[in-house]
Amino acid sequence: MAHTRKKIAVIGAGFVGSTCAHWTASKELGDVVLLDINEGAAKGKALDLYEAAPVELFDSRIVGTKDYKDIAGSDVVIITAGLPRKPGMSRDDLLATNAKIVKACCEGIKEYAPNSIVIVISNPLDAMAYVAKQTLGFPRERVIGMAGVLDTARMKTFISEELQVSVKDVHAIVLGGHGDDMVPMPRHCNIGGVPLTEMLSQEKINAIVERTRKGGAEIVGLLQTGSAYYAPAASAVQMAEAIIKDQRRILPCAVELQGEYGVKGLFVGVLCKLTGKGMEKVVELQLNETEKAGLANSIKSVQSLVDALKNIQY
Ligand code: APR
Repeated sequence: MAHTRKKIAVIGAGFVGSTCAHWTASKELGDVVLLDINEGAAKGKALDLYEAAPVELFDSRIVGTKDYKDIAGSDVVIITAGLPRKPGMSRDDLLATNAKIVKACCEGIKEYAPNSIVIVISNPLDAMAYVAKQTLGFPRERVIGMAGVLDTARMKTFISEELQVSVKDVHAIVLGGHGDDMVPMPRHCNIGGVPLTEMLSQEKINAIVERTRKGGAEIVGLLQTGSAYYAPAASAVQMAEAIIKDQRRILPCAVELQGEYGVKGLFVGVLCKLTGKGMEKVVELQLNETEKAGLANSIKSVQSLVDALKNIQY
């Protein structure tokens, strides 16, 4: 009998990758292939997770490998390979090293999973998504960066904590690049439908916006040895789930703009409709002057990263 279970490949079996495998299996999105140049880590973590299935009762097979041929037929591929940042580093400091790694991963994906939908997590995110798209040559619908779901998750956490309300009732939007000048959008946030601007003072909102922008660095500062992985992995798996189940969710993702917001050819965080086809549609918001200026500033940073890539051999 032909098997119809979905297949999800996770490239990179480090903290982010193994946590992606964990959420994917526990949600039973499909079978999981965990790939890493460190074969022992990939195989060991995959087997360990697989052995949790009889306890957690999930029907997902998890295998580890270093061989790209094992990702053949994957519906979704999540790229997590690359160095994480250490205290004092910005995401941009990872540019040259991670560009080489992401390019190598995409060459394998292009050869063995040419019909997959690819979600990029490696940092600096917007530039790595750009490298992935250039290497893969896939249409923009099938190369999607994970940043906005994480940045909004952080913002929602801080809002729910401040107001002591359920995270389930908090809605938030963050646009722009996945850097310190990302653009949290307080005017578009609400709690159970009530605008955030009616629930919190401007001062409190400003503090939440600032903490959201520096959310990644806050975790790096605490961990000292690497960067965040639970929330980044959960965010990528939410995107994978929207795709695998054709949920048609509206989520903020980094995608190649093709004229939206007046930008062409750059990966920028915008609201997207995620379906079984991948990123089916960019949902463009009406921005006020302050929001437009914030987005333009963030896009400038993404552009300078992409310009820097042009001077790097990768
Ligand atoms: N192919 C496959 N795997 C690779 C390659 C490669 N060319 N190069 C490195 N790796 C693997 C490493 O062997 C390691 O297991 O990538 C993994 C990275 O894991 P960690 O060091 O634990 O890093 P992690 O915290 O998972 O972060 C990975 O995600 O959020 C981003 O900024 C973060 O870029 C970083 C990435």
